[in-house]
Order: sequence, then structure tokens, then C-alpha cells
Amino acid sequence: MSASKDQGKGQRPARFSLDGQLALVTGSSRGIGLASARALAEQGARVIINGRSADTVAQAANRLRQDGLEIIEAPFDAADVQQSIATVDRLIQEHGPVRIFMANAAMQHRESLLTFPQEKFEEVLWLNLTAQWALGRHLASHMVQQKYGRIIVTGSVTGLQGRKDISAYTIAKAGLHALARQWAVELSPHHITVNAVAPGYIATEFNEALQKDEHFNQWLFDRVPQQKWGSPDDIASAVCYLASREASFVTGQTLAVDGGFTIAL
Ligand SMILES: NC(=O)c1ccc[n+]([C@@H]2O[C@H](COP(=O)([O-])OP(=O)(O)OC[C@H]3O[C@@H](n4cnc5c(N)ncnc54)[C@H](OP(=O)(O)O)[C@@H]3O)[C@@H](O)[C@H]2O)c1
Repeated sequence: MSASKDQGKGQRPARFSLDGQLALVTGSSRGIGLASARALAEQGARVIINGRSADTVAQAANRLRQDGLEIIEAPFDAADVQQSIATVDRLIQEHGPVRIFMANAAMQHRESLLTFPQEKFEEVLWLNLTAQWALGRHLASHMVQQKYGRIIVTGSVTGLQGRKDISAYTIAKAGLHALARQWAVELSPHHITVNAVAPGYIATEFNEALQKDEHFNQWLFDRVPQQKWGSPDDIASAVCYLASREASFVTGQTLAVDGGFTIAL
């Protein structure tokens, strides 16, 4: 057998490797965040996983460690910016610079616009946009010193289109897509890329009620060319690409991962 055919056999492929890089994924004790944390760790990253419940974070971390992955636990409420920044600073001191940041924690509130309480609007905007902006900017300042960084925000197809009863969520997600463009402009000179992934409908705990709703499934399958729910792994694969060195020329983009939902009339 020729040397070229042998090359790479039994080794992790060099392309898309994240070997040794420290990554933080907020809201990663289940769902899309957990799948993304796993995928990043499988590519060789050391991954900090997060959620509000320390027990759920510990359970998720232990499952990943059983598969030989390098995981650091960081339970904190991403809505508490001071606590988030203090925790992240301690982790950077202990484990070195964060090179990959996925801003993923979010909440939903469903109510018609005309009765939507302003406090709820502010709560959703705070967690889904403002707190991500604050922690992301703090991490960006560290990345600037490293002259390297990958920032990925979890947007949504509902940030690209309107949808009834979720007006705070869609506005916050549209804001995250704008954040990716704006930060990409400002951080490009520092070799930091910033992109958004916009998941379509992905089966997680976030939308358990919708998955069981026959009318909603009919509505969804009528609109999604692939006629199915996505899986958290679909998003995780896109995240791995955007987190890689190989994606260095891709910045400020919003990548819809949605089975064709946003391209079909
Ligand atoms: N699923 C979809 O169809 C879909 C579509 C488009 C976009 N998205 C976006 O994808 C992201 C993840 O959604 P998902 O469906 O994976 O949700 P999920 O299954 O409900 O998981 C949410 C995760 O975030 C954590 N979390 C929630 N609030 C938090 C907070 N304040 N601070 C820290 N962690 C928090 C949860 O843990 P704790 O509860 O223990 O805190 C959990 O780990 C969100 O940004 C969501 O908007 C989802």
C-alpha cells in the first residue's frame, strides 16, 4: 500500500481539529448546547458546560467524561452578568484562555403582542440578547489579547421571520443576528470571527409541547421541505465548522440549519 493511502489511518483528521482549545457553551446541560459541547469536545476541545442547575450540569458532564471527553463544569445563571463574568474569569485563570464561545442560553415567553407584559419582554431581551452581549464582549476582550477567537451565537429562524405570540424572542434573536454582523466588523482586525447559527425547529425540551401538538406538526411539515424536526446534532455539526480554524474566512453570517424552512415559499 502506498504511503499516501496509509496517511491519516487511525489518527484524528487534522482538518476541523480543535485539539486542546478551551470552549465555553452557555446553556449546555441539555439540548442543542449539550450536543454542541459534545461535538466540540469530540473534535478535541476542552469544553466548559453550563446551566443553572448544578446537578444537571454535573450529570451531563459525567456522561461526556464517560466517553473520554474533557469537560469542565460551570453552573451559573447566564442572566446574572456579574456572576457569569466572575465565573468565567476564574475559569480562565485555572484553565487558560477561552478560544471558542457559544452564546446559547435563552428563554421563551408565549403571549399575544397586545397582552405581552413589558416586564416579560425585558426579561426575555435581557437573557437572550443583553446578557449574551455582555459576556460575549468580556470574552472578546480576552480573545483580542490572544489575537484569535471564535464566537458563535444561537439565533433562530424566528429571528429571520415573524411568528405570532413570541414577539420578545424573535426580536432578541434578530438582535443576535445583527450582533454577529456588527461584531464581525469590529473584531475582524483581531482575527476573531463572529457568526450566528439559526436553528429551525429542533426537537428538544424547549419545545416538548409543540412536538406533541398534531396541528403544529402538520403546520411544520407543510412548510419544511425535509418534512421533519431537526436534531440537536444538526446544529452541533454547523457549530463545529464555525468554531474551526478552517472557517477563518466566514464571519458575520447567519447560517440557517432548518431543513429548508427559510428557503421555501
Ligand atoms: N429547539 C429549537 O427548536 C430551537 C430553535 C431555534 C433556536 N433555538 C435556540 O437554541 C438554544 C438552545 O435551545 P434548546 O432547544 O437546546 O433548549 P433546552 O433543551 O431547553 O436547553 C436549554 C439549556 O439552557 C440552560 N439554560 C436555560 N436558561 C439558562 C440560564 N438563564 N442560564 C444558564 N443556562 C440556562 C438549560 O439548563 P437549566 O434549565 O438547568 O438552566 C439547558 O441546559 C436557545 O438559544 C434557543 O433559543 C432552539
